[in-house]
Amino acid sequence: RAHAIKKRFPYQSNDSMRDAINKGEVEFVDFHLSHVAQVMRYGFVEKCNTAIVEALDVTNDGKIYLTMSGGMSATYLRMASRVLIEINRQYDGSLKGIHDVYLPNPPPHRAPIPIYHPSDRIGTPFVEVNPDKIVGIVETNLPSGNGTFRAPDSVSMAIAAHILDFIQHEQKVGRMPKHLPFQSGVGNVANAVLSTMAQCPTIDPVTMFTEVIQDSIFELIDADKFEFASTCSLTLSPEGEQRFRKEANVLSDKFVIRQQEVSNNPELIRRLGVIAMNTALEMDIFGNVNSTHVFGSKMMNGIGGSGDFCRNSYISIFMAPSIAKGGDISAVVPMVTHVDHNEHSVQAVVTEQGFADVRGLAPVARARRIIEKCAHPDYKDQLTEYLEYG
Ligand code: COA
Repeated sequence: RAHAIKKRFPYQSNDSMRDAINKGEVEFVDFHLSHVAQVMRYGFVEKCNTAIVEALDVTNDGKIYLTMSGGMSATYLRMASRVLIEINRQYDGSLKGIHDVYLPNPPPHRAPIPIYHPSDRIGTPFVEVNPDKIVGIVETNLPSGNGTFRAPDSVSMAIAAHILDFIQHEQKVGRMPKHLPFQSGVGNVANAVLSTMAQCPTIDPVTMFTEVIQDSIFELIDADKFEFASTCSLTLSPEGEQRFRKEANVLSDKFVIRQQEVSNNPELIRRLGVIAMNTALEMDIFGNVNSTHVFGSKMMNGIGGSGDFCRNSYISIFMAPSIAKGGDISAVVPMVTHVDHNEHSVQAVVTEQGFADVRGLAPVARARRIIEKCAHPDYKDQLTEYLEYG
């Protein structure tokens, strides 16, 4: 809003920033969250001189205790020559042990990351910097300013039911082990779907290995369906944040917040067998997904970690309501207007109409299944006509 930002990467979800990007006032570089730290360290992008972080405490010897997100903080703090800290007094000491700060060495000295369960801890609960770099500390008690989430509706309930049916079927036929960790993406749809899943009496308590935790986590907790979550951030509504702070004494044992280079690490996502559930703006009949560009040109938020999880998960599911804008647009289209996740990585798509498992299907079979299972009845004929043409 102050026109003080020239370039932004990799993700944003702020209206003013979105506006500035779409007007061309801010250059936006959209890339996988798991890549950002190494791209910075390798020097492929501008150097980081000044790091600004929110913290709940800082010690005289330079130990910085972060608040509700790990993000890129450790990398920026390490690289920057000047550090500014905002101490948020809303948080008391009970959040202090929630972070696990670990950064891999750069190649060729990189070792396997020794996480074998989402709850494993391998680092420190703080980021350590040379205290001489800390040039300023400011205090605040303002909340983070996240928005609220839409309540689940019949569409998200139907999507959740299809996903649960699929998972339970796969477990029954022996293609999916029980107790794989879940990743759930950002936004209203993902939040509502996870909330709805929490209400299912037959779902086992879930473990999460994810990049973001939203308010739906409370539904899982309240339904006794929650075991543990590894995440990069807690992006909660003001009410959710308040509750988390109030219950932090109990809850912080059930969460670990990691740096995004670790939370989104392909090695770990593949090793743990994560069930990835992300949201599409639109999906095409061949299984390509657009999560970022409205009508192919207007930037929404960015891909965030959806690509990290999509490519490396045990199964990659994309969900969306079958129609958008009151039914004027089909979210299942002949060809997406922008490709974020392509047909080679996307394994299943789901709308309130149904679930299309497209693993092992050739393109035309995939198209038939997606039209049959996922397209809204108003658009099925047009999509089939497109497929049959030529
Ligand atoms: N064509 C045009 N616009 C569409 C559309 C389509 N097919 N589908 C949705 N939209 C619009 C909606 O109308 C809404 O617009 P509005 O804000 O003007 O009302 C907007 O897109 C967002 O829709 P909403 O239903 O609120 O979606 P959401 O909050 O569930 O977010 C994404 C959906 C795709 C934007 C969000 O999940 C995202 O940014 N994903 C990419 C990053 C990601 O997956 N990260 C997870 C990794 S951990």
